[in-house]
Amino acid sequence: VKKIAVLTSGGDAPGMNAALRAVVRTANYYDIECYGVREGYNGLINGDFLKMGPRSVKNIINQGGTILKSARSMEFKTKEGRQKAYDHCVRLGIDGLVCIGGDGTFTGAKIFNEEFGIRVIGVPGTIDNDIFGTDNTIGYDTALNTAMDAIDKIRDTATSHNRVFFVEVMGRDAGFIALNSGLATGALDILIPERKDSIDELFTNFRNAEKTGKASSIVVVAEGEKLANVYELAEKTKKDFPDYDIRVAILGHMQRGGSPSCADRVLASRLGYGAVTGLMEGKTNVMAGMRSNDLVYTPIEEAIKKHNEINKDLLLISKILAI
Ligand code: F6P
Repeated sequence: VKKIAVLTSGGDAPGMNAALRAVVRTANYYDIECYGVREGYNGLINGDFLKMGPRSVKNIINQGGTILKSARSMEFKTKEGRQKAYDHCVRLGIDGLVCIGGDGTFTGAKIFNEEFGIRVIGVPGTIDNDIFGTDNTIGYDTALNTAMDAIDKIRDTATSHNRVFFVEVMGRDAGFIALNSGLATGALDILIPERKDSIDELFTNFRNAEKTGKASSIVVVAEGEKLANVYELAEKTKKDFPDYDIRVAILGHMQRGGSPSCADRVLASRLGYGAVTGLMEGKTNVMAGMRSNDLVYTPIEEAIKKHNEINKDLLLISKILAI
């Protein structure tokens, strides 16, 4: 490879900048020209490229968000959009594309590769951790710690007022943030889409907690929970437990921001490096991931279609410890 382009797409995640820095500086080390693409696939379509060198990525390893900006491009979902994108790549002589993002980003990369043969490599950047082929995605650890800090704060006020809080965390259809932040904050219950949750079980947990003298509780609910949303859960609970003083908190986009954790910076650096060296080795239509501390490449198709299993032990442990 002689010239590569790199973009960040989909929901931003803390550590995307660290991954970008790693791509740009690894390319520089191996004498590969590197272009940043602004606003994800939209920039590819509009020819919004920016030549990047080692100094273009100074002081960003610690910054949340993405300096390239991100977007969920509708136009890239059309053949015409992708044709425009390809034409810009040809014009600049781009022979490899690094796509940092989640499953939507990877779906776009895969189609782009299959249609035009341009070499693509994915770097998993999403707080949801819902990508197969890597133990963790970039941004997940930071988001988890942000959620944990926020829930700790909610606990302070919940305890002071003897209240029950339903706290909704992000994660799209996956319950990784909910399960781990719930375990880490001692939530009474954790409702996630991967488990068949039931109101009866939740109510039994409330009753058992009451018996031990527990006066306040936190229930962490994944945004993808199928049973009910946090407001409906609060309403249903109030009907059966009229004495409970119930509040709802939705953590929302605060979980996407902030300076990346050490684990995310290290992961992003290793995967950004791995993306460039993977392209140099002729790899394409794969994602660079980290499994058991080893750099591995997984076909993008698998990364999107397969799913990391929720660790059932964590559910059991949280149940035993939460009482
Ligand atoms: O994929 C990251 C994520 O933050 C999900 O957890 C959430 O469901 C979604 O993006 C929110 O998307 P938007 O920022 O477009 O509202």
